[in-house]
Amino acid sequence: MKKVTKAVFPVAGMGTRFLPATKASPKEMMPIVDKPLIQYAVEEAVAAGISDMIFVTGRSKRAIEDHFDKAYELESELERRGKTELLEFVRNLLPKHINCIYIRQAEALGLGHAVLCAKPVVNDEPFAVLLADDLLDGEPAVMRQMVDAYDYYNCSVLGVEEVPRDQTQRYGIVAAEPLADRVERIGAIVEKPKPEDAPSTLAVIGRYILTPRVFHHLEQLTPGAGGEIQLTDGISALLKEQQVLAYRFAGERYDCGSKLGYLEAMVEFGRRHPEVGAEFVAYLAGGGRVR
Ligand code: G1P
Repeated sequence: MKKVTKAVFPVAGMGTRFLPATKASPKEMMPIVDKPLIQYAVEEAVAAGISDMIFVTGRSKRAIEDHFDKAYELESELERRGKTELLEFVRNLLPKHINCIYIRQAEALGLGHAVLCAKPVVNDEPFAVLLADDLLDGEPAVMRQMVDAYDYYNCSVLGVEEVPRDQTQRYGIVAAEPLADRVERIGAIVEKPKPEDAPSTLAVIGRYILTPRVFHHLEQLTPGAGGEIQLTDGISALLKEQQVLAYRFAGERYDCGSKLGYLEAMVEFGRRHPEVGAEFVAYLAGGGRVR
């Protein structure tokens, strides 16, 4: 059985919900306190034992490549100023054994198309997909939990959570039957159904482990919801020939693709921040400005 060693990060989206912040810089580089969203997602993949990080990028996404690259000027400046702690910090953003691979998606044709762009690198192996604007806070890391489920069942696994019925139009929604604790067998999946058409309120969040067979189905697709090549449609075809499981992860999700979710994440991670957490908690408790 093949291990999951590769993760795909589709990062070519335009981030229109955060304009003008995302006019010239990628939404995945927006920080929660002091760390960009993409780094949280990559760290989650590292915690799951994944070593090859495949970024499917687009125009104006150079900052993501630069973020995980060596920063010579910054490093020599920190060295000159004797800031050794910060220097070590920026030098060791990722463990040494991690490979970062960049693929350019020339046209933004949809999430399914972005994932298909990674096929030449993923080849014939199971792989993870992480959407960085879903920030997941779990212990163990949510992708770690999902890789464990994959290792046990040896089939595709989608991260899911219950959502209010009036929000089904924002997600891929599954119809599923319980199989084990946290695990359900998916019978159908549909992209962004209206509340009255949704087969359930179990929503796919931005975490997937897929078998390489999904590429075959993505190649056959015509545009679906919103005129885009949808990953959900590829998975819908996949589950007619292979088992696909839904996994109710343990942990919290912050939808950082929405302003409200982003603000919630900022507050929660701010509270716990080793440097400013205590003062921030006091501020929130009504103590007024700290200084
Ligand atoms: C994408 C997927 C959707 C999934 C969601 C999770 O939608 O198409 O099925 O539920 O991510 O965040 P998007 O948020 O890119 O519109």
